[in-house]
Amino acid sequence: TNPNLLILPGDGIGPEVMAEVRRIIDWFGAKRGLAFDVSEDLVGGAAYDAHGTPLTDATMEKAQEADAVLLGAVGGPKYDVLDFSVKPERGLLRLRKEMDLFANLRPAQCFDALADFSSLKRDVVAGLDIMIVRELTSGIYFGEPRGIIHEGNERVGINTQRYTESEIERVARSAFELARRRGNKVCSMEKANVMESGVLWREVVTKIGETEYPDVELSHMYADAGAMQLCRWPKQFDVIVTDNLFGDLLSDAAAMLTGSLGMLPSASLGAPMANGRPKALYEPVHGSAPDIAGQGKANPIACILSFAMALRYSFDQGAEADRLEAAVEKVLADGVRTADLMQSDGGSPVSTSGMGDAVLAALDGS
Ligand code: NAI
Ligand code: MG
Repeated sequence: TNPNLLILPGDGIGPEVMAEVRRIIDWFGAKRGLAFDVSEDLVGGAAYDAHGTPLTDATMEKAQEADAVLLGAVGGPKYDVLDFSVKPERGLLRLRKEMDLFANLRPAQCFDALADFSSLKRDVVAGLDIMIVRELTSGIYFGEPRGIIHEGNERVGINTQRYTESEIERVARSAFELARRRGNKVCSMEKANVMESGVLWREVVTKIGETEYPDVELSHMYADAGAMQLCRWPKQFDVIVTDNLFGDLLSDAAAMLTGSLGMLPSASLGAPMANGRPKALYEPVHGSAPDIAGQGKANPIACILSFAMALRYSFDQGAEADRLEAAVEKVLADGVRTADLMQSDGGSPVSTSGMGDAVLAALDGS
């Protein structure tokens, strides 16, 4: 039976960029014999409009059973007035929570043709390909006690960083598994010098590395030094694994090493399913971009690269993922640009479907 892929285009530019991904999925079916059982459903504002909820139970169930879920984006000004319980974002949050997606993968990849977009020097970023794995469901954003309390005659804001051994173990395993499909190196970042959770983090990651992944090279870095090294010489890294808070900061910083929001894919992974592959949700980092929605201006590359990640990490198709990434690279090297990838001096941008056409043509030539 074919692997099954659930597609949730969502709102705004979500359906526009997803339409290009659908053409690419069809190409892999027709030209590479890679058939998927694709089903499409509603999420976010689109689901609210149809069903009065941003994610129905039926869609949730399909997501639980899918080999991978590919999502466009949710939200938009039309829904800003809605009650929080039915806001589009809640659909996405429900997916992440009920699928228990504890590892957030944010690649920082810099295509040579776009290296001048970075705020860093070209040779620091050109050809960069690293992956930050951020723990997503625990840590200081969730730990108890939390709140604002009164103490004497002033208030105190409290959050607690708390990690169990099993929470650290599972995200460490995700990082080591990824490293085996990439450059075989993991750098773990915490602040074991000043935080108890950091001491435990380092101990547990070390143990998992030694006992289960002795073939993967493991190093440790304090997260503040890691931030510095990310800007100084990011190519020293392959996979970085870190907690929720540090990962939030490090992944946003790393993303901007490489340029436009329209280029950035992501994935969130959970526990392995019966087939050994993790539960997985793939999505571009960007949102629904209401300012350009409906105009055919959106860059579909972030969503296309999210599908490439699905090929690599959910479907064991690393060579086909390479093929798709190489096609994107070629198109960029040929100077094809959507509006978001143009410097102010101009040239003429292609449309969303024009970029899709170019990627398909590059695939045909691959
Ligand atoms: P956004 O990412 O939608 O847009 C930020 C800026 O980047 C805009 O100027 C937009 O035109 C541009 N941009 C984004 N993606 C692009 C692409 N593929 N090609 C070309 N330009 C692109 O973030 P914003 O404006 O803060 O949020 C808009 C809506 O999206 C809100 O309702 C927000 O809640 C939602 N959102 C949803 C996310 C998701 O579905 N995961 C993530 C972030 C925001
Ligand atoms: Mg953030």
